[in-house]
Amino acid sequence: MERLEVRELNFYFGFSQILNNINFELKQNEIISIVGPSGGGKTTLLKLCAGLLDVTEGEIKNSFSSSSFAFQDARLLPWKTTIENIMLPIIAHTKYQQAYEEACQIALRFGLEGKDFIKYPKDLSGGMRQRVNFARALITKPKLLFLDEPFSALDIGLKRELQDFVLQSGEEFGTSVLFITHDLMEAIRLSDKILLLKSDPGEILKSYEITTPKQKRDDEFVFSKTKEFLDDSDVINTFEIKVR
Ligand SMILES: Nc1ncnc2c1ncn2[C@@H]1O[C@H](COP(=O)(O)OP(=O)(O)OP(=O)(O)O)[C@@H](O)[C@H]1O
Ligand SMILES: [Mg+2]
Repeated sequence: MERLEVRELNFYFGFSQILNNINFELKQNEIISIVGPSGGGKTTLLKLCAGLLDVTEGEIKNSFSSSSFAFQDARLLPWKTTIENIMLPIIAHTKYQQAYEEACQIALRFGLEGKDFIKYPKDLSGGMRQRVNFARALITKPKLLFLDEPFSALDIGLKRELQDFVLQSGEEFGTSVLFITHDLMEAIRLSDKILLLKSDPGEILKSYEITTPKQKRDDEFVFSKTKEFLDDSDVINTFEIKVR
């Protein structure tokens, strides 16, 4: 079975410790979200898991056959159009026309319109750039997806649609997802497990399993679970929420 295992991971940038004793396991078909305060080390942890940074202490084992990453900042190539950016990961091993058609299909599915296909990143809105970034990560149908706040610049309608797309990818292709979000409701809607990462240094303070099947998580469920979270003293302390 494909899985990602993180064991006793410590990480430093120079002399400052960013992550301390991180342990978790992501299995096939699972979605794990990481929530925590800004600057706490979430992106760093995701990059380590994706092999984009070298582990200093501890171990990360990734046995998924393929993976892709949607970065927090969209990182599109400025000299390529929307469609050319989306095609990038498959262009080397797919015929141009096929790659082009696949990119158009996924772009349409993500709410981009024909007139946006030939635009360059500088002429797209922030939310559009995020959608191109997300489409580019999904075009390879990866077994493991690393998502760093992929929907933060989207309106609530689009956000909901793309969240559903993440869930569908799980059902259709068995995609597993390691997901960073600041949106607790999003984490509750999508995740099998939520890891609460405190900062200075980043440590997993708590791990919440959500066992209710994802298709049964209606708004009422999500709201009441969010309230439960916001009442949890660990969440209050981690985010330094002022209780009134
Ligand atoms: N290349 C780097 N060199 C030195 N320090 C870094 C580097 N990248 C990140 N850091 C530091 O590591 C810490 C964690 O950063 P990281 O980007 O992982 O936080 P984050 O939890 O993703 O925050 P946010 O929610 O704001 O995106 C921060 O203090 C940041 O300044
Ligand atoms: Mg980050």
